[in-house]
Amino acid sequence: MGADSHAVIDASELSASEAYRLLTGVIVPRPIAWITSRSADGVLNLAPFSAFTLVANDPPMVGVNIGLRAGTPKDTAANIEATGEYVIHIPSWSMQHAVHESSEVHPPHVDEAEHLGLATVPSDVVGVPRLRDAPIALECRLDRVVSFGRAGARFTVGEVLRFHIRADLLVDGKIDTVALDPVARIAGPTYARVGETERLRPIVMAITNAPTHG
Ligand SMILES: Cc1cc2nc3c(=O)[nH]c(=O)nc-3n(C[C@H](O)[C@H](O)[C@H](O)COP(=O)(O)O)c2cc1C
Repeated sequence: MGADSHAVIDASELSASEAYRLLTGVIVPRPIAWITSRSADGVLNLAPFSAFTLVANDPPMVGVNIGLRAGTPKDTAANIEATGEYVIHIPSWSMQHAVHESSEVHPPHVDEAEHLGLATVPSDVVGVPRLRDAPIALECRLDRVVSFGRAGARFTVGEVLRFHIRADLLVDGKIDTVALDPVARIAGPTYARVGETERLRPIVMAITNAPTHG
C-alpha cells in the first residue's frame, strides 16, 4: 500500500493475464457488442465483445477489440476480415443468458444464432443477417483493423451503414437508455444493469464540429 493507502502497481511487472484482470476491473461496466458475422463459405457466427467503443461520428464508426484464441484469430475476426461486413447488436437485459452462452467456443461450421434458437432476418445493406429481436442492430462495413501491443488483439473498426432501433427506444433522435435496459459486462461471468440515472444541468457544447461526447 502507498502512503495514501492505494496499492501501487508497476505495469511493467504485470504479466499479460494480470494486466487483463486489472483492466477488466478498471474499465467497467462495459457495453456489449453482440456480433453476427459470416464466414467466407456462408456460416453465420454470433459472439459477444465488451471491448467496444465509439470511434467517430462522421461517419459513424465503432470499434471492438478482438483477442486471439490460442494464437489464432477468433471466428468473428476471421469472418469480418474475410467478408468486410458484420452486424453489431446491443442486447437488452432479458437477453443476458443468450449473450453469455454465445461466447461458448464452437467449431466454425456451427451457426450459434440457430444453436441458441435466436431468429435472424436479412440486413438491408450488408450480407450478414441480423438478430430479429435485438433492440438495436448496427449494420457495419469494416474500415480497418489495428493491432496494439504484444498480445495480437485486433482492434476492429467499422463504419455503421444502417441503424435499426426499436421504435419505442427512439425519442427526439436519442435512445431511451432506461427502456433499452442494456446488458453490461463486469468481468468473467459477471454482468451489470443500468441502475439509478440522474440528469444534471445541461452544459452547452460546441457541436458544429465532430463531437464524440454529448
Ligand atoms: C460478455 C462477454 C464479453 C466478451 N468480450 C470480449 C472482447 O471484448 N474481446 C474478445 O476477444 N473476447 C471477448 N469475449 C470472449 C468471446 O465472446 C469468445 O472468445 C467467443 O468464443 C468468440 O467467438 P468466435 O470465435 O465465434 O468469434 C467476451 C465474452 C463475453 C461472455
